[in-house]
Amino acid sequence: MSRTILIVGASRGLGLGLARQFSSQGWQVIATVRDPARADALKALAGVRIEALELDDADSLERLAQRLAGTQLDVLYVNAGIAGPQDKPATAASQMEVGQLFFTNAVAPVRLAERLLPLVEQKQGVIVFMSSILGSVETGPGMGMPLYGASKAALNHLTRSFVAGLGESTLTVLSMHPGWVKTDMGGSEAPLDVETSTRGMTEQVIRAIGQGGHRYLDFQGNPLPW
Ligand SMILES: NC(=O)c1ccc[n+]([C@@H]2O[C@H](COP(=O)([O-])OP(=O)(O)OC[C@H]3O[C@@H](n4cnc5c(N)ncnc54)[C@H](OP(=O)(O)O)[C@@H]3O)[C@@H](O)[C@H]2O)c1
Repeated sequence: MSRTILIVGASRGLGLGLARQFSSQGWQVIATVRDPARADALKALAGVRIEALELDDADSLERLAQRLAGTQLDVLYVNAGIAGPQDKPATAASQMEVGQLFFTNAVAPVRLAERLLPLVEQKQGVIVFMSSILGSVETGPGMGMPLYGASKAALNHLTRSFVAGLGESTLTVLSMHPGWVKTDMGGSEAPLDVETSTRGMTEQVIRAIGQGGHRYLDFQGNPLPW
């Protein structure tokens, strides 16, 4: 029986690449986009079920949860994220920019995981949050994009709180660094292409099924310092 993955934020970039990888390996892929009318690249992938979701909107999340009721997810992959005001030093960003960045990157992914947790296969299921090496408190500072890095550090922290709340669960949770990848966010200078990064992440996710615990790792499976 084929396995099912829900990929959140799959209109382009890494989310789209993940949909392509899992779909080519025979998985049932459910992929969310903000605007299904603009999801041509995703629609070109045969068999992918497209669902609408604005990650920041609680009502949109609720509607998605209702539409997915009864679906069992082997993997929930929360990929959506934003770069925020990366051209500005942290202290020059506006209150609105900072609020948006931290809400989308740190709070909304965990809220989604909490809401969709009952759909995740309870013994062997995997929940993946798209983090970044820039979110490592030990190694991120000095690498650039400090506000963005702080939002991913906040995501890592909230993920650990989420995991603590799971108690004795045997679910696996991954905080994933995709590498620095050529996408709209990563830019053209990035050394990795989407195919290489998403192939590696897909391998890591499949390897994690049934392992349990919470790990912060990169697309090649290397553990990262918190
Ligand atoms: N590229 C890198 O080098 C790199 C490195 C480390 C971590 N990451 C992380 O990897 C993830 C994907 O990055 P990417 O490089 O593929 O970026 P991207 O090309 O900018 O794509 C971002 C994706 O997130 C979606 N998204 C953003 N805000 C959303 C919201 N509020 N609701 C629903 N969907 C939303 C976008 O949808 P729309 O098309 O509707 O905007 C798009 O599908 C992000 O979490 C990013 O922080 C990337």
